[in-house]
Amino acid sequence: MAIIFINPRVLYFVVVVLLCGGHAHGKGRAATVYGVTEYGAAPSNRDNKDAFLAAWRAACDSTAGNPTLHFPKGTFAVGAVAFEGPCRNGGGAPVVVIDGVLRPCAGGRGCRLSDDAWITFSGLNNLLVTGDGTLDGHGAGSDDRIKSKSKTTTLVLDGVTNSTLRGLAFVNSRGFHVNIRRCSRVVAEGLGIHALERSRNTDGVHVGLSSHIRVLDSVIGTGDDCVSVGPGSVDVLVNGVICGPGHGLSVGSLGKEEGEQDVQGLIIKNCTVKGTTNGVRIKTWPGSPPSRASNITFQDITMDDVANPIIIDQRYCPHDHCADANKPSQVQISDVTFERIEGTSSSRVAVQLLCSEERACTGVRLDGINLSCGDQPCRSVFSNVRETPGSGSGSVVAPAPSPALAPAARAPVEEFAVAR
Ligand SMILES: *[C@@H]1O[C@H](CO)[C@@H](O)[C@H](O)[C@H]1NC(C)=O
Ligand SMILES: *[C@@H]1O[C@H](CO)[C@@H](O)[C@H](O)[C@H]1NC(C)=O
Ligand SMILES: *[C@@H]1O[C@H](CO)[C@@H](O)[C@H](O)[C@H]1NC(C)=O
Ligand SMILES: *[C@@H]1O[C@H](CO)[C@@H](O)[C@H](O)[C@H]1NC(C)=O
Repeated sequence: MAIIFINPRVLYFVVVVLLCGGHAHGKGRAATVYGVTEYGAAPSNRDNKDAFLAAWRAACDSTAGNPTLHFPKGTFAVGAVAFEGPCRNGGGAPVVVIDGVLRPCAGGRGCRLSDDAWITFSGLNNLLVTGDGTLDGHGAGSDDRIKSKSKTTTLVLDGVTNSTLRGLAFVNSRGFHVNIRRCSRVVAEGLGIHALERSRNTDGVHVGLSSHIRVLDSVIGTGDDCVSVGPGSVDVLVNGVICGPGHGLSVGSLGKEEGEQDVQGLIIKNCTVKGTTNGVRIKTWPGSPPSRASNITFQDITMDDVANPIIIDQRYCPHDHCADANKPSQVQISDVTFERIEGTSSSRVAVQLLCSEERACTGVRLDGINLSCGDQPCRSVFSNVRETPGSGSGSVVAPAPSPALAPAARAPVEEFAVAR
C-alpha cells in the first residue's frame, strides 16, 4: 500500500544524477518515493526501526522505476537497523535520500544498539545513499551522560557493490563513522565527519576486505584516523580529504589477527592534514603474523602542524599493552612512495620509517619532501628500510630533499637506536 508521491526535491536529485552521468539510477523517469513517515515513522525518541524497515521492504521489493527511500527533515530515533538486499529491481537497490537527522534511540524497551553497527546496508548492488541529512551517533561530546563503552559503527556498508555514498554529515559516532567492508567499487564522496578529538576509535572512514574503493572530497575531523585502510584492501584511492583533528591518514593497523589478507595498490593524494598526531602512516602490530602491504603511494599532501608527518610504525601498540610487544612484526611492507609532501611538523622528527627487524621495508622512496620543524632542523629516523630489494641493509635514498631534510640526505643511513 505504498503511497506514491512525487517530491520536487527528489526530482531535482534525479536530474542531478543524470547530469553527472552517475550510476544506473535516474534514467529521466520520475522516481517512486517511499517516504518513511508514510510507513509510520515519526520524529520522536521512540524506535522507528519497524517503520524504516517496512518502507525499505516496499522500496526494495518495488518493481516501479527508480524507487527511492526517503527520510524527510526532522529528527528520527532508531535502534540498530539493517537494510538488506538483494532487491527486486533488476538487482539494483533503491536510492536512499536522508534529509533528516537520524539518532540512536535513548535505550529502554526493545531499543538496542548492537556493538557492531548502528545502520547497515548489506548485500546490495547499485545503491546510492545521499541527502542533506545527518547521522548523529550521539556518542562522546553530544551528551556526557553517555558512559557507554560501546564501539558501535554509525554506518556499515557490507557486501555492497557499484555504489555511492554522497554528501551526508556524520557526527559523534560511538565507534567508526563509516565502515566499508567486503565491498567492491564503492565511492564515498562529499562527506563531512566530525567527532571530538578526545573520542576514542572514532575513525572517519574505514576500508577493509574491499577493492576499488574511492574516498573523495571530504572533510573529516575525529578522535582517531580520518581514513584508515585495513587488511584485504585492494585498489583504494583517497583524494581531496581535509583531515584534522585526529590521527591522520593511515594504512592499518595491520597484523592484529592470524591470516589477514594483504593490502595492495593504495593511492592517497591531494589531501591536507591539520593539527593531527600523524600525517600519513603505515602501522602494524608487534609480533604480527605474516602478511603483505605493497604498492602504496602518498602524494601531494600538505601538512599543517602535524606531530609525525611521515611515519611507518611496525611496533604500533596504542595503549601499551601488547602481548608481543618485543617481537618483530612479520608484515612485509614494500614499494611505498612518499612524494611531494610539504608543510609543517610540530615535532622535530618529521620522518620516521621504523620497519620490522625481521621483514625490512623494501622499495621505499621519498621524493620532494619539504617539511619544516619550527626554528630547528628536522630530523628523520630510519630503521630496517631498503630502497630496493637486495640493496645493503638500512639504506634509503631521498632524492632532491628539501633543505630541512638535508642532514638525512647527506648521511643516507641515519639510524637511531629507537627508544620506545
Ligand atoms: C559492477 O560494475 C562492474 C563494472 O562496471 C561490472 O563488471 C559488474 O558486473 C557490476 N557488478 C554487479 C554485481 O552488477
Ligand atoms: C584536490 O582536492 C580538492 C578538495 O580538497 C578537490 O576539490 C580537487 O578537485 C582535488 N584535485 C584533484 C586534481 O583531484
Ligand atoms: C599499484 O596500485 C595502483 C592503484 O591501485 C594500480 O593502478 C597499479 O597497477 C599497481 N601497480 C602494480 C605494479 O601492481
Ligand atoms: C619548501 O616549502 C617552503 C615553504 O612552503 C617554500 O618556501 C620552499 O620554496 C619549498 N622548497 C622547495 C625546494 O620546494
